[in-house]
Amino acid sequence: METIQSQVDELITQMTPAEKAGQLTQYFYFRLPAGAEPALDFDAEEQPRMVESALREGVAGSLLFVTDPAEINRLQRLAVDGNRLGIPVLFGFDVIHGLRTILPVPIAMAASWDPQTIERGQSVAAREARAVGIHWTFAPMVDIARDPRWGRIIEGAGEDPYLGAAVAVAQVRGFQGGELGAPESIIAGPKHFAGYGGALGGRDYDEVNLSDSELWNVYFPPFKAAVEAGAGNVMTAYMDLNGIPAAGSRWLFTEVLRDTWGFKGFVVSDANVVRSLVTHGFAADLIDAAARAVNAGVDMEMAVADPAYAHLPEALESGVASEQAVDASVRRVLEAKVRMGLFEAPYIDEDLAREVLADPAHREVARVAAQRSAVLLRNEGGLLPLDGGGLRSIAVIGPLADSKRDILGPWVFDYDLDETVSVVEGIRARAGEGVRVDHARGVPVVQRVFPSLFNMFGWNKPEDPEGFEQEAEFQQAVDLARGADVVVVVVGEWQNMIGEAASRSSLELPGRQRELLQAVVGTGTPVVLLVMNGRPLDLRWPAEHVPAILDIWYPGTQGGAAAADLLFGDVSPGGKLPFTWPRTVGQVPMVYAHTRSHEPENQERRYWDEDSTPLFPFGYGLSYGRFEYANLTVEQPVITTGGTVTVSVEVTNTGDREADEVVQLYLHQRFGSASRPVRELKGFRRVTLAAGESRVVELPVGPNERRYWNAAVRDWVIDSSIFDVWVGGDSTAQLSTRFEVTKE
Ligand code: NOJ
Repeated sequence: METIQSQVDELITQMTPAEKAGQLTQYFYFRLPAGAEPALDFDAEEQPRMVESALREGVAGSLLFVTDPAEINRLQRLAVDGNRLGIPVLFGFDVIHGLRTILPVPIAMAASWDPQTIERGQSVAAREARAVGIHWTFAPMVDIARDPRWGRIIEGAGEDPYLGAAVAVAQVRGFQGGELGAPESIIAGPKHFAGYGGALGGRDYDEVNLSDSELWNVYFPPFKAAVEAGAGNVMTAYMDLNGIPAAGSRWLFTEVLRDTWGFKGFVVSDANVVRSLVTHGFAADLIDAAARAVNAGVDMEMAVADPAYAHLPEALESGVASEQAVDASVRRVLEAKVRMGLFEAPYIDEDLAREVLADPAHREVARVAAQRSAVLLRNEGGLLPLDGGGLRSIAVIGPLADSKRDILGPWVFDYDLDETVSVVEGIRARAGEGVRVDHARGVPVVQRVFPSLFNMFGWNKPEDPEGFEQEAEFQQAVDLARGADVVVVVVGEWQNMIGEAASRSSLELPGRQRELLQAVVGTGTPVVLLVMNGRPLDLRWPAEHVPAILDIWYPGTQGGAAAADLLFGDVSPGGKLPFTWPRTVGQVPMVYAHTRSHEPENQERRYWDEDSTPLFPFGYGLSYGRFEYANLTVEQPVITTGGTVTVSVEVTNTGDREADEVVQLYLHQRFGSASRPVRELKGFRRVTLAAGESRVVELPVGPNERRYWNAAVRDWVIDSSIFDVWVGGDSTAQLSTRFEVTKE
């Protein structure tokens, strides 16, 4: 520790204000495919030249978006050889759910309710990233999302702070390994601090207004957990939080993050956010913007071009930026570079990089993750698993069924389509020789109207094949369904309809997919529906008319293989929903952990035109087993406020196949110094039980599970009260008991 500090101090004393500002600046660096139209405001020719000269002059501290190992070495050499102090650059990138090997999207990983699977997945992502020369990922996104119109719901862990915190911790561990700088690991950067998921109307980047209670009890906990797990970086949010732009909020970055939670790493702004302090009508000009961000505790600015932090020397000169703040920021950035070993080993071995990317073990991790994240939403009459022996023909229908690009989901750039398995390919491989597997798209690709930021990378855009004859293709799909023993229909959103800048005002299946599904169901052939999504979609019709529905999300490189494993029963689905699935967009936001409020007996009849219940509750998911819960007990029926109770329950798989269940514990405080939600998740464990097997699962409920932020006293409280406990397989669990908490 001391040596790191003295090495860093030594450098700081030699640095000019411009060099300090440079260390605090991160530039985008990418070359667009020929003919691409930049969606960001920058000159595609000039940008790389500008960044390279900044590297040579020692006024760029970090780059993002470079993933080619040879390019990384070349650019690193420009920095190390070029600048006076030989300070290497930190390479950051959005390694959200894999680099070459693509894992299921983050909301899917959360649906596994399995921290081990999540940690293992992100450690594979880290291993690949580090091998190509990336030191730092802008992940995990730990924003709570309660409005599925917001496209970035796909990047997080859903609506619940307890699950969100567990998933955040698993991801930080996966990315960073045991400690910052561990071999084959990268820095994790939980984002976007804070409240980004609360965007008004689900409109990306829109303002956010959150009550004190929501912030501390719902939106902050995953960040705090990620910080406690040792995350080395945190990224700011884009928008105004309660009227203050996040990146200018000293309260967020200094008082909460550092002073209250003890965060020791460095903070990066989201792209162009420091400049945006002017756009927001907050800072007077770029000098003011730079000063206010750095004074707030934002260490590094992520910028496309013309960064506000280039004005830090002027801001220091005039005294608006604090020298102490600037030096503290430089120190944090340099410390990260030292810890990551950049000074000793700035370059990477390109042969080793190729070897690591080709490691077949990574594909296996992705396949298991895809199996474990799928959620079985319906299975009437036990249609699933398919009877492999008795089938002669399977029709696989839908425009997403054979799309390798879509099965990977958004936020991937370095994937390999040759090793990506589509649903059609996965089913074909698993069904084997004797079974005919035919595919028809039925309906065309739907182009998103909104011009995606990522369209500029060309390859992310869905394309219709030449000469798609709408009516003929539709009819062909229906005919194929009619003649098959079973139909697998794949519906959902194209990958660029969800993610950043992909908000929606409806949750309908895009295009004519529902019509296609209805026509296929109309043939009378049994239908299994696979849903490819990152947000809940309007499945009211299928939930009544399609016997089997399996949510496979965007399952990644091995998605098609995993889907086949699940369909044929080689493994049982065991994932659970990480959000409440509304019936219709008009119910949004809908969360299970609401307070009781007035007239609770009418809670389920709040709308006169639609039920007030969700289509599927939070925590819901079926399996090929059948689970029964019994003997719910609390070991200590009366405790004091600091005490812990152990809740135990016996879970039995009464079905005839091995399967997984996620045992969930929900808590409710009956009375106290604030109204508390009707129930809140406060414990869970995913278990595998053989047919007929029983297991006793114990879950502790301690003071941490009962403390909450009280908006009246603006502090944490633990009330004495009576607590109801429910344990079961989803948030509507009925088996309950209670315990009492008395004053110390
Ligand atoms: C903007 C996004 O909000 C952020 O999550 C991402 O990491 C950066 N762009 C860099 O791509």
